[in-house]
Amino acid sequence: MTRTAYVTTPIYYPSGKPHLGSAYTSLAADVYARFKRLDGFDTYFLTGTDEHGLKIQRAAEKEGLTPQAFVDKMAADFKQLTPMMGLSNDRFIRTTDIDHLAAATTMWQALEKNGFIYKAKYAGWYSVPDETFYTEEELVDGKSPDSGHPVEWVEEESYYFKLSAFGDKLLAYYEQNPDFIKPDSRRNEVMSFVKSGLKDLSISRSTFNWGVPVPGDDKHIMYVWIDALTNYLTATGWPDTTHANWKYWPAVHLVGKDILRFHAVYWPAMLMAADVPLPKCVFAHGWWTVDGAKMSKSKGNVIDPAQLVTEYGRDQVRYFLMREVPFGQDGDFSHARMIDRINKDLANDLGNLFQRVLSMVAKNCDGVVPEMLELSADDRTLLEVAKHLPAKVRDAVEGLAFNKALDAIWEVVSAGNRYMDSQKPWELKKTDPARMAHCLRVLIESFRPVSVVLEAFMPESAKRMQELVGVTDAVLELPSLAAGTQLPSPSGLFMRIQTEAA
Ligand code: MSP
Repeated sequence: MTRTAYVTTPIYYPSGKPHLGSAYTSLAADVYARFKRLDGFDTYFLTGTDEHGLKIQRAAEKEGLTPQAFVDKMAADFKQLTPMMGLSNDRFIRTTDIDHLAAATTMWQALEKNGFIYKAKYAGWYSVPDETFYTEEELVDGKSPDSGHPVEWVEEESYYFKLSAFGDKLLAYYEQNPDFIKPDSRRNEVMSFVKSGLKDLSISRSTFNWGVPVPGDDKHIMYVWIDALTNYLTATGWPDTTHANWKYWPAVHLVGKDILRFHAVYWPAMLMAADVPLPKCVFAHGWWTVDGAKMSKSKGNVIDPAQLVTEYGRDQVRYFLMREVPFGQDGDFSHARMIDRINKDLANDLGNLFQRVLSMVAKNCDGVVPEMLELSADDRTLLEVAKHLPAKVRDAVEGLAFNKALDAIWEVVSAGNRYMDSQKPWELKKTDPARMAHCLRVLIESFRPVSVVLEAFMPESAKRMQELVGVTDAVLELPSLAAGTQLPSPSGLFMRIQTEAA
C-alpha cells in the first residue's frame, strides 16, 4: 500500500499583502511535502486563503468593494506565493470555494446533530484583527492579549459550541499522544490552558453578514474560525470518505505560535464532536522579527518575500529561512545574515567544492566518472557520512527540525571540503594521477546524496547539482554510479553577493 502524507499551512487572511510570515509557513510546508515525495510518500500539500469575517468585510468596505470582489483581488497575491517561492502545493483553497461552503455547513450540522451547539446571548470583547473573542480577564491593558489591538464590546444572540465538554478528553488525548502538539514547550502551554478550564465558544455572528450562513438560521453566519478550520477537511473530500483525497487525512498542521490554541484546542474538540479522526500533529513555529524589531506596517519594516527573491534568488531565500532559525523558535531577519549565509554556506562551502571537483574531472578525466580504487580510511570516513545522510535528513524532517536537516547536509559538505584539503588532488595530479581520479570519484559519490536531499530545500539548484553528478532519478536510495559515465561540463551553482565592504 502506498504511504500517504498530508501537510497544511494556515489559510491566510487576504486583508493585506503576503509578507515574510506567510511565506515562511508555506515554505516549511513545501520542504516537508517535497521531502515526503522524495521518500516515496503519496503527498498532499494544502495552502490557501481565509476569506470571511469582519476583518475582511471592513477591509473591503474601506476600498469601496464588495467582500467578494475584494477577496478575488487579494487572493491573487497569495496565489503568487506558489511560483514566487517555488511551492508545490496540490491545491490553493479559498473559503469562498463552493466545496468549502458545503463542508463548513456539514461540519456545523454534525456538531448540531451530536448535541454540541446551543443558542444563548453573547456579551464580551472581540478583536477584529485577531478574529477572536476574549473575556474581561484575558485582556491586557484592555487590549487583545495576542496582538495588542483594541477590542470591541459585542452583545448579540449567538450559537455556542460546547467546548467545555471536551477539556478532559483533550487532556487525555494530549497525554496519550505526546507528539500531537509540538514543540514540547508549546504543548505544555496548551495543556495548562486546557487545565485552567474551557468555556463554551461563541460560534456565530449576526451583526454582519460576510460568512457562511448558519444552516437553518439565515440571521446568523458562522464564526470565521469554525469555517476556516474546516478547510483542512474540505480538501480531503470530507464527509465523502470514498473521495480520492480522503486517504490523506489526518494532516500535519503547521501554524504560527499565535494561532496554536485554535488548532490544538478548538479544532480537535470540533473534530471529536463531529466524530472525525484528529490531525496527526500541530506544530507551532515562531515569529520573525527584523533587525530585532517586530514587523509592522507602521514601522515600515515589513519584509516582502517577492523582493527578497528578486534580490537574492528563490533557492537562496528558501535556504536562509530554513537554516537560520530552528523551526519552532523566534528568529531575526537581517540582510547581513542572509548575505553571509549565501556567501559562506552556498557559494563557498557548497558551490566552490562542486565547482573545483567537477572542473578537475572535466579537465583531467575527460569529464567521465573515474574508477574507484581500494578505499583508504579517509575515503571511508567521507563515504560513511554521505551514506547516512538520507536517514538523518528523514529523521530531522519528520521532527520538523529543518535546520537540523540542513546541518546534517552541511556535515557532508564540510567533510568533503576537509577531504579535498587533506587529499590535495591537485598535487596527486603530478604524483599519482590514478589516485587523484579515485579521490575525485569519492567526492562525486559524496555529492550524490547531497544533491538529492537538497531538492526539498532548494529544488532548482538541487536539480542542477543532480545533473552535474549524474543523478537521473532522485531517490533516497541511490544506485551507485558506473565508472565511465559522461558528466556534463560544470557550471557555477551560487553567485557570491558583493557587499560594499567586500
Ligand atoms: N486566517 C488565520 C489562520 C486560519 S487557519 C485555519 C490567520 N491568518 S494570518 O494571515 O493572520 O496569519 C497566518 C500565519 O502567518 C500565522 O500562522 C502567523 O503566525 C503567521 N505570521 C504572521 N506574522 C508572522 C511573523 N512575523 N513571523 C512568522 N510568522 C508570522 O491567522
